[in-house]
Amino acid sequence: MFDVKEFVNDAVESLRATVDQTAIIACSGGVDSTVAAAIANIAVGDKLHCVYVDTGLMRKNETAEIEAMLKEIGVNLTTVYAAERFFKALAGVTEPERKRKIIGEMFIRVFEEEQEKVGAKFLLQGTIAPDWIESGGGVRDTIKSHHNVGGLPEDMTLEIIEPLRDLYKDEVREVGAYLNIESSSRQPFPGPGLAVRCLGDLTPERVEIVREACHIVEEELEAAAAEGKMELPWQYFAALLPVRSVGVHGDVRAYGETIVVRAVASLDGMSARYSPIPHEVLQKISNRITNKVKGAVNRVVYDITNKPPGTIEWE
Ligand code: XMP
Repeated sequence: MFDVKEFVNDAVESLRATVDQTAIIACSGGVDSTVAAAIANIAVGDKLHCVYVDTGLMRKNETAEIEAMLKEIGVNLTTVYAAERFFKALAGVTEPERKRKIIGEMFIRVFEEEQEKVGAKFLLQGTIAPDWIESGGGVRDTIKSHHNVGGLPEDMTLEIIEPLRDLYKDEVREVGAYLNIESSSRQPFPGPGLAVRCLGDLTPERVEIVREACHIVEEELEAAAAEGKMELPWQYFAALLPVRSVGVHGDVRAYGETIVVRAVASLDGMSARYSPIPHEVLQKISNRITNKVKGAVNRVVYDITNKPPGTIEWE
């Protein structure tokens, strides 16, 4: 049985024993990195610099929400605005693994710049067990290089510390709840952000489309769950596909983009079942997406694949 209190005490003790100089903690605002930041703050708060990178690949209003949440935890926070750099590095890249590697490397470069500013020796990360297992840890095949594992460049100088390395998502959430962290109830969001939900050309315009679509899916499913029409899925979002199809706007031919809606039930993200969503809710999502991003998206589809054989994200 997982003992939350014992885990936190051990993690704090171990960090105190290891972190003898300044450390940077990379925080994305997700459950994993926020829990790691909170534990590190308890252990070595005086040596800790929390860095949040706004990659331009975050969800709607996310940067402001994350900043507020991290301030609440009490960490010493620096936000780095790096959207332009990320888009430039990702221009023309469509192959998912290459995308992940580039993003991983960009993150490290940003952290190294911050490291120089504060003279840090360590980089703390919120890596959890499925991240390194699915990135090819041990004897397994690489399913996806999680940017905080398989995407790390070889020439980096920071020493990596991963206090949550052996935990699964449900355990991280337990730790988050124990530490009263608001983000422990948030749905998971991948480290590479909307980049892995924007298949095909990664441009600011296309990312904006998927950002709006994700926002609509979140609002509609949360409203439907609050009204008792369905259970709130474990994870729910939209992805923009690299497929165009013929549609009609008014009486004019349109050749538009395709959004896929994804919602799954899962315990730890290692396996998942697609969530049944009432058709009236799907209809509303489809109407809102096609109206909001008029002309750009003219088709919305629903993904009914479990994991396996699919994965939760499309890339
Ligand atoms: P997949 O798509 O592999 O995702 O079935 C399983 C869970 O992990 C999230 N995910 C990531 N989380 N870094 C992360 O921290 C990543 O690179 C990454 N890729 C996927 C995904 O959203 C799902 O919750």
